[in-house]
Amino acid sequence: MKGTILAKEDKPARSVNHVAIIMDGNGRWAQARKKPRLFGHHAGAKRVRQIVRACPENGVKYLTIFAFSTENWKRTQTEVSGLMLLFRRYISKETKALIKHGVRVRFIGDRVRLDAKLVSLMDELEQLTSGNDRVHMTVALNYGGRDEVARATKRLAQEVADGKLSPDDVDEETLPRFLDTYVLPDPDLVIRTSGEARISNFLLWQSAYAEYEFIDTLWPDFTPEIFANIIDGFGKRDRRFGGAKP
Ligand code: FPP
Repeated sequence: MKGTILAKEDKPARSVNHVAIIMDGNGRWAQARKKPRLFGHHAGAKRVRQIVRACPENGVKYLTIFAFSTENWKRTQTEVSGLMLLFRRYISKETKALIKHGVRVRFIGDRVRLDAKLVSLMDELEQLTSGNDRVHMTVALNYGGRDEVARATKRLAQEVADGKLSPDDVDEETLPRFLDTYVLPDPDLVIRTSGEARISNFLLWQSAYAEYEFIDTLWPDFTPEIFANIIDGFGKRDRRFGGAKP
């Protein structure tokens, strides 16, 4: 526990154990201020820091954020390289604070296409925070739900080919063991900012029973207060996972 901020004010995790967020609207936020899109991404990164810190007081143990999708490579070279640099700087700058706040960081997505320097910072951050348990933050970077399922299936097929797994044993419990998220619980709530009501290839398998919250706020305007209100509202929802009302 040495160095970790004491967790006296932490709310016990309730039904909203895992929140996943599609952080949308950085570009529009910047454009509205006549600034380049990267200005919006930098403002977005500041919000990430605040929202991670707001998790314990809201009873959120797991937070998963969509930082870069497999489709985001289609953006301009300037925006893509600016985002990659932002991720590197974010990791370097935030490592100490993440450790101090007891945050365990994991990355999901395909690392193959990512810059080697970024990948080594990601590995190092995962390693340095691996003993933390107050908040589990997962960053989806070069992530796409279909790509993840395809990669998982490939690994599963390899185990079958190697004779380690029988096709008869493949069921709903088997496939998730090959997903990038195999150690994480499924999300209870998926939030998307900026008024778009789409899931855009995010956690397709894992969100089968999640609740969705689509809000108009652009990500750089997403305050800890808005986050807390959404979590409060979530606690009042009636989740039945396909069962009937009692
Ligand atoms: C979507 O807004 C945002 C992204 C593709 C990048 C998300 C990245 C951050 C919030 C930066 C910080 C993240 C970390 C982990 C440090 P958009 O560009 O699609 O906005 P638009 O729809 O208004 O164009």
